[in-house]
Amino acid sequence: MKTIAYQKCANAACGSTYEVTQTLTSCVKCGELLDIRYDWSKGEVPRTLKSFEERWQRRRFPLDHSGVWRFRDLLPFAADAMVCTIGEGQTFLQNATCLGRQLGMWPGQLYLQYEGMNPSGSFKDNGMTAAFTHARLVGARRVACASTGNTSASLALYAAQNGFQGIVFIGTGKIAFGKLSQALDYGALTLQIEGDFDACLRRVRDVSQQLGLYLMNSVNPFRLEGQKTIMYRILEGLNWEVPDWIIVPGGNLGNCSAFGKAYEELLELGLVKRAPRLAIINAHGANTLHTAVNRLGMTWNGGHPDNSKIQGLYAGMDEANYHPHTVASAIEISRPVNLIKALRALDVMKGVVAEVTDEEILEAKALIGRYGFGCEPASAATVAGLQQLLKNGTIGRNERVACVLTGHGLKDPDATVHYHTGIKTKDAKQPAAEPTWGSRANKPIQVADDMPSILKALGMAQDTLDKTVPTGYVETPSANLPFVEY
Ligand code: F0G
Repeated sequence: MKTIAYQKCANAACGSTYEVTQTLTSCVKCGELLDIRYDWSKGEVPRTLKSFEERWQRRRFPLDHSGVWRFRDLLPFAADAMVCTIGEGQTFLQNATCLGRQLGMWPGQLYLQYEGMNPSGSFKDNGMTAAFTHARLVGARRVACASTGNTSASLALYAAQNGFQGIVFIGTGKIAFGKLSQALDYGALTLQIEGDFDACLRRVRDVSQQLGLYLMNSVNPFRLEGQKTIMYRILEGLNWEVPDWIIVPGGNLGNCSAFGKAYEELLELGLVKRAPRLAIINAHGANTLHTAVNRLGMTWNGGHPDNSKIQGLYAGMDEANYHPHTVASAIEISRPVNLIKALRALDVMKGVVAEVTDEEILEAKALIGRYGFGCEPASAATVAGLQQLLKNGTIGRNERVACVLTGHGLKDPDATVHYHTGIKTKDAKQPAAEPTWGSRANKPIQVADDMPSILKALGMAQDTLDKTVPTGYVETPSANLPFVEY
């Protein structure tokens, strides 16, 4: 295939370019991250976004079925025959009016982009299909990543299905069991090393370079190409109308960076007239971007961000031997590698950054769950952030908002069970501290195995069985959901 793609250093002062067939995770000249760029003038670019709908009719072909590759004209770096797809991206924009009403929003204005419905249960599959396609293109056989869990689960799945050897580095005790179980089951060589995610990533970058392993973390610019398609699917869900806000959790900042790039290109191609605004939500215990933007005043600054500010922040963290800590283990990251690209995304999408506490995350997660959308704690940071941004007036109650639910609820059942029961299941030997549970806890009720006790627990009168069996919905005593009218 004649390619219009090339790699380009994200540092505006450098701007070095490389062939798309080179395997690099940073600029050889200045060390900054790379972007995949396209010479659109030499390619065939669709004239409207609506024209992508034609692909639905051909969905028995794997590339047209994939929610990533049916937009392949907007990530044209590989020939169709090279693509490694397993049907990722069958995720839909769900209208969440009831949840929105609970938050005080106007009807029909809150949407949830449910990325937990991907094959490995998180948004990572969008990026992994693209990076594996590049790995195949360059003839790689062994692929590696550091992970808080979802990247490793996704890597392991794609490696198993496409004939690669997968190697994952995880920090000790830092990974939810749902995710660890996937990496193990899919046969990835799993190395648990001392330290947190930041240490793991440093190590795997070094090991990959020295041993020639293909690196799958989001320093790999091809990952971000696949993740752009989450924005296309949200547009599709809104009949190609641009929403007012996109809200996304911020960890290593690859996803938000991909969103910014998607809109930068859609604007450049004239496929949209404006970009939505972006809200990136950090957990309070892992809030580097929040600190960099809201306290240190860092901006993209036309491609010349003041890097001394972030270096100073990291030096302070080293001195204090600081390690991030949050219940949202997926985003427990203090040195996000895509920070500079995230600043660019904030610039393109007139974005804001907020931080939320663990308690706010867990309360938001329970609220999302109560309306039938399962997600892991990191994903719930979006709704917790939305609550805050509605309260302080940044987001209007009449604005149209899409929150990206990045990972499935079954990824981290321990967090959910702990919230509802106070019981920590992960380390049963550890004596449970005083049980605590959240304000929306749906506690299981201990009940004796006899009919009178069961009737009592169901809130039914003892003579119920003598009368006609009642039909219809019965509010269980534990459905603790105060409804707020605005
Ligand atoms: N949500 C979930 C469920 C995640 O797994 C991650 C990242 C994020 C949000 C943050 O996305 O890094 O692009 O800002 N998980 C990575 C991992 C770090 O290793 O699985 P980001």
